[in-house]
Amino acid sequence: MNIQRTLVKHALASEAPAEQILVEGWVRTRRDSKTFSFLEVNDGTSLASIQVVADAGIPGYEEIGRMTTGSSVSILGRLIESPGKQKWEIQATEIKLVGSAPETYPLQKKGHSPEFLRTIAHLRPRTNLFGAIFRTRSRMAAAVHQFFLERDFVWVHTPIITASDCEGAGEMFRVTTMDPLAENKGYDNDFFGKPANLTVSGQLEGETFACALSNIYTFGPTFRAENSNTSRHAAEFWMIEPEIAFCDIYGDMDIAESFIKHIARTMLNDASGDFEFFCKFVDKGLRARLEEVAEKPFVRCSYTEAIEIMQASGEKFEYPPYWGMDMQSEHERFLTEKHFKCPVIVYNYPKEIKPFYMRLNEDGKTVTAMDVLVPGIGEIIGGSQREERLDILEGNIDRMGMDKEAYYWYNDLRRYGTVPHAGFGVGFERLIMFVTGVQNIRDVLPFPRTPRNCEF
Ligand code: 4AD
Ligand code: MG
Repeated sequence: MNIQRTLVKHALASEAPAEQILVEGWVRTRRDSKTFSFLEVNDGTSLASIQVVADAGIPGYEEIGRMTTGSSVSILGRLIESPGKQKWEIQATEIKLVGSAPETYPLQKKGHSPEFLRTIAHLRPRTNLFGAIFRTRSRMAAAVHQFFLERDFVWVHTPIITASDCEGAGEMFRVTTMDPLAENKGYDNDFFGKPANLTVSGQLEGETFACALSNIYTFGPTFRAENSNTSRHAAEFWMIEPEIAFCDIYGDMDIAESFIKHIARTMLNDASGDFEFFCKFVDKGLRARLEEVAEKPFVRCSYTEAIEIMQASGEKFEYPPYWGMDMQSEHERFLTEKHFKCPVIVYNYPKEIKPFYMRLNEDGKTVTAMDVLVPGIGEIIGGSQREERLDILEGNIDRMGMDKEAYYWYNDLRRYGTVPHAGFGVGFERLIMFVTGVQNIRDVLPFPRTPRNCEF
């Protein structure tokens, strides 16, 4: 066959019939009658499969019995208007079995649970749901780049291996070439000659570039050894971290809000069929929720106000709210889902519960942190204006018992031409959950890494 392959997606979107096309993919279902067979062939380029009609007797038909669910096939034929529901179908002139799939193929029937499908993460992209999720993930990554590149942000590739701890939460994976079972030989003998870890955030390195190129963002893998088995935490996830020079906390909130709106709008304009699928089969409230987010301004509410609102609400919380506490998921979801019923930006948190780099407010008690909370997810963004005053920053480093020497380069940004600057981090998986309605982070990561789980 010397003819170029047509992706099923393009065949289905064809404007006219075609005398000869070649499609290749995996058989979803097959039905036989005496004189012909129907094959549903899907190549993953679209949710929809293409229907193939193969008459008995065409070349390759002798193998039809082995063209079972999951097997791969190559179909040559005419693209013709379909008498059925779909617009186009293929009248095959030649069919070929590429690779067979015996009855042990786990995806024989539709309707497997997400829990079962996680155990076959290497095959689940072949299902409707996971195909739609991972095509969406790719399109959303493009939408992220589009948003920042259109606004003159430079994409900076910050390191994955680092010797600094951005968040100070002690959730780092150690990077070492030493055998943990061998006798302790000291860091001098390790690869980097000092402790190193996988990054928990590209922010600190990102700031160095913002203090040179003005507007930057990072977008890449991030690692946290949080030992919490929740539906919103993964040990390996992707984060988007814009950093903006000459910007304060309010400018930061503006960008965060436009960013979430841009993502919501991109999803609402999705014409691939994947969004329809999520609205129909995953989350019936998805479209209405995204429309609201795209249209309505986000509420902005200080941490202190948020605590007061929750204390006055009469709501039964597992952890009763008090000033100074770190907000739990139940608090975030109460604010965004029950009280305001829209995205909320909570800002000015107590300094004790936030990292060293956040800017101290006039009150001496709070820092310019801001979290964006959205319905269905809770915290999707965490950000802040950074402390640009050297003396206060060094004071924080001392107070938190950190090693000042190790952060000399970060402090240099304040020593030489310091500027007010701000930024935030978006969890990319939470963003995908937000636009698809999928409830578990394990289902929007190709191969999720969580405590005691590092398969594939
Ligand atoms: O709020 P976080 O910890 O903020 C930072 O890391 C800052 N350095 C960001 C910045 O200002 N440049 O994390 C940011 C976001 C969270 O809001 C959440 O969406 C996501 O990253 N996130 C996780 N997503 C999945 N699994 C985890 N374990 C996550 N931890 C954080
Ligand atoms: Mg946070």
